[in-house]
Order: sequence, then structure tokens, then C-alpha cells
Amino acid sequence: MTGASKGIGRAIAYAFLREGANVALSARTQGELDRAVREGAALGGKPIAIVADVTREDDIRRIVDETIAGFGSIDVLVNNAGGIGAFAPFEELTLDDWRRLFELNVFSVAALIKAVLPIMRAQRSGRIINISSESALQPDAAMAHYNASKAALNSLTKSLSKAVGEDGILVNTVSPAFIKTPLIEEMLAGIGRSRGVDVAAAEAAFLRESRPNIVLKRAGTPEEVASAVVFLASSRASFITGTNVRVDGGSVAAV
Ligand code: NAI
Repeated sequence: MTGASKGIGRAIAYAFLREGANVALSARTQGELDRAVREGAALGGKPIAIVADVTREDDIRRIVDETIAGFGSIDVLVNNAGGIGAFAPFEELTLDDWRRLFELNVFSVAALIKAVLPIMRAQRSGRIINISSESALQPDAAMAHYNASKAALNSLTKSLSKAVGEDGILVNTVSPAFIKTPLIEEMLAGIGRSRGVDVAAAEAAFLRESRPNIVLKRAGTPEEVASAVVFLASSRASFITGTNVRVDGGSVAAV
């Protein structure tokens, strides 16, 4: 799985390890990745570390080769690595901002899926789970490139689910909204400092002003996203493909 050293990705990796799975954790930074693998090793299962940048084609190949060398097969691929890019109004986003973000959020996912598919087809089984966002279905004015990239990911997921279903490969997205990762915690601490309030008050203000659609009126946890991913990878989800599981506290208004 990609982007596994922190945030939602690490929670997903740990949830699989708790289930006793073999997990190839991939991320760019050796130190953070080694720490995640060390911690993960205590949970059960077997973790291995693969340092890789998903926007580099040779690294994509290495993720697949080193996973096969370590475990002999790839049963589940979780594409979690992603970014939000520049937080800027539309006019200020350059075409390079768009290209860089699509490279990370869409093209890298397509590349890794292309590299893994021959293995899953030969096995006649596999699960692919792409981490999307509420923003794909409910884009707001900010971050048009991010919203569009996640909408592309949802569409790619649906197409692929139709193309590979008869090979026993199930493909789904999980779409979080406002999950308390270190990045978000840092942002809330910053809001708290600037307003002279504690983090809980900063979170309440952010929810009120910037995420009014979240019905449950709180941020989600990485573990709550991980639970949905592990379910989709399990034998209990054997008739679910081409769907988008929203872990968003009710944020997306439509059914
Ligand atoms: P994060 O920034 O903590 O994690 C992103 C992960 O992707 C990190 O491990 C990072 O190292 C990795 N990554 C970024 N660029 C990479 C590259 N070129 N090669 C390899 N790895 C790379 O963020 P978070 O919040 O854990 O996000 C994980 C996923 O969830 C992302 O796809 C994000 O778009 C999505 N998401 C997060 C939400 C949230 O509220 N935190 C809400 C909706 C979607």
C-alpha cells in the first residue's frame, strides 16, 4: 500500500497487520517508513518497507517487484498516496499545479494498477481500493484541481471494476472527509493559536465555518477510514465492486 508512513495510510497498514496480513508499506521517506514498520511489526502480520515515490515509473516497478519478492503474491492493492497541492483560487492555479496533482492523484494510481493487474489476473483474484475524497462528489470552490483529480479517480475505479470483474478482481473507492491526520491536527492547532482558543474550540469553529455539512459534527479518525478499507479487502465484501464507500460523517448531501 502507498503513502503508508503516516496519516490514513499508516492506519490502514496497521489495521491490516492487526488482521495478521502481510503488508508492504511504501512511502518516500526512509526514516518515517522504518518507524511505521517497526511499530507495525508489534501488531501481528508481517510488514516490509519499500521506499518509493509513486510519481516515478521505476519506483512503481520496484514496489511490485519487492512485494512479490517478499510475499510471493499481491492480493490487495491500496492506493492511498495523494496530496492536495496548492491551496489557491482557480485563477492562481498554474497548469503545472494541475499536471503535478494529476500526476500524483491519478496517473500514479493508473501506473501502479497497470503494474499489479497481470499478477491479479493470473491469480484470478484481487482487490483494489483507491482512497478518494468527499470532494470528488461535493467539490467546493477551492482546490478545483484536487476535486477534479479525485473525481477522475472515482471514474477510473468504476471503469476498471467493469473491465476486470470477470477476472475475480474487485475495485472500489473509499472516500473520507475531514479526517484528523497530523496535517489536519497541525492546521487546527494553528487556528487555535491565531484565535487564542484550544484545539477543541478550533475544531468546533472549523466544523461550523468550513465543514457545515458533516452531520456527525466532528472530524473522523484514520482508523475509521481503515475499517472500511479492511472490510472491502475481506471475504465479507465479496459482492461489492465499482462502489464508493463514503467515510464522511454524512458530509455528502445526496444518497
Ligand atoms: P497525508 O499527507 O498525511 O498522507 C498522504 C500520504 O501520501 C503520505 O504518506 C505521503 O508521504 C504520501 N505521498 C505524497 N506524495 C507521494 C509520492 N509522490 N510518492 C509516495 N507517497 C506520497 O494525508 P492523509 O490525510 O493521510 O491522506 C491520505 C489520502 O486520503 C490522500 O489520498 C488524501 O487525498 C485522502 N483524503 C484525506 C482526507 C483528510 O481529511 N485527511 C479527506 C479526503 C481524502
